[in-house]
Formats: sequence, C-alpha cells, structure tokens
Amino acid sequence: MPGLSSTVNSLPLAASLSVARAAGESGWKPYMEGDAKAGEQLFFEEKGKALCAKCHTVNRKGGRVGPTLDRIASRRSPEFIMESIVQPSKFIDPLFEAVQVITGEGKVLQGLRINETNFSIQLREENGRFHSLMKRDLEAFRVMDKSMMPDNLAEQLTVKQLHDIFAFLMTLE
Ligand code: HEC
Repeated sequence: MPGLSSTVNSLPLAASLSVARAAGESGWKPYMEGDAKAGEQLFFEEKGKALCAKCHTVNRKGGRVGPTLDRIASRRSPEFIMESIVQPSKFIDPLFEAVQVITGEGKVLQGLRINETNFSIQLREENGRFHSLMKRDLEAFRVMDKSMMPDNLAEQLTVKQLHDIFAFLMTLE
C-alpha cells in the first residue's frame, strides 16, 4: 500500500495475504445463494441487526464511519467481501483505522483516524463528533488492531441473512 501513513498494525495485513483481495481472482463460492433484495433491506434497516448503513454508504445513503461500498464487487474478491463481514479485524483498510487517544485531561477518545501529521491527529468518534488534537498535548496515542466494525455482527444474523447481505453487496458492481 504505497503512500499511506504509518501502519503500526501491519500484522492483520500480512495475515490476510492468503485471501485473494482483488475482484476476479478466484472461483470461491459462498455456502448458499442469497436474496439480494432481502439483503438490501437488511443493509439499510435502521433498527435491524445488521446496521451496515449506520457506517457505510451505498449510493450516498448511509453513514461515513467505514468506506463506501459502492462498486465493492468490482474492487474486491467475493471471499474478501465475505471475510470483511465475518472477520472485520483480519484486514483493516489502512485508510480506515481506529485510533485511541488519552488526552492531557485523562479523557479516552476512540474513533476513526481522519488524518494524521507529525504534530496532530484528527479523529471522528462513532457518534460523529470530530476532534482535532495536538499530539504533544496527548497522554497516549495508539492505532487499534481492531476494526471500528464490530466483530460480532455476523453472529447476530442468520446464515440466510448473512448470505442475503453478501448477495446484495455482489450486485454493487
Ligand atoms: C460501526 C461501524 C460499522 C458497521 C455497523 C459495519 N461496518 Fe463494515 N466497516 C467499517 C469500517 C470502519 C471498515 C474499514 C476498516 C476495516 O477494514 O475493517 C469496514 C469495512 C467493511 C468492508 C470492507 C470494505 C473494503 O473496501 O475493503 C465491508 C465489505 C464491510 N465493511 C461490510 C459491512 C456490512 C455488510 C455490514 C453490515 C452487516 C457492516 N460492514 C457494518 C465499519 C462498520
């Protein structure tokens, strides 16, 4: 990943190299065929179990904690997409890393790293609150090895629902 800022947690990246990441690299097939229409509904349901749109946009609808999933099926291999849902922390997009800081006043803040320079860090909490902080004022700063995307999302879904959502993502070409 050339040109990206410091990746402290390069381990998840190395661990996932065995999975074909780009689209069109493999013949992997999901366990069952999903229903893309049902998956779309689950994806956008505000009080549902999946909550995908809380953090992801598709066609400009949704939240901005995670990357947009427009054209995801053209950018990523099917198994990478499935793995992203089931094991979000296995590969964390370096542009969407979560950071944790402890401010001089001892307050712990956690959020998505929006930008970082040698002197400052900008992050956005999951509730949307934006913080711009000077590093010299911080007690501690670290890049998390966990994704902002919850690890247990897939467990909340039935196998059918998981495959419905997967089928929906595969229509986003
Ligand atoms: C609390 C926020 C949050 C929720 C809820 C969430 N995600 Fe994510 N997701 C993220 C973040 C942040 C990333 C990027 C970091 C990473 O790679 O884990 C991500 C990454 C992804 C990726 C990889 C994208 C890429 O370009 O590599 C996919 C696919 C994905 N999410 C699908 C989903 C689906 C499907 C759901 C609902 C079942 C969902 N996410 C729910 C935050 C979230």
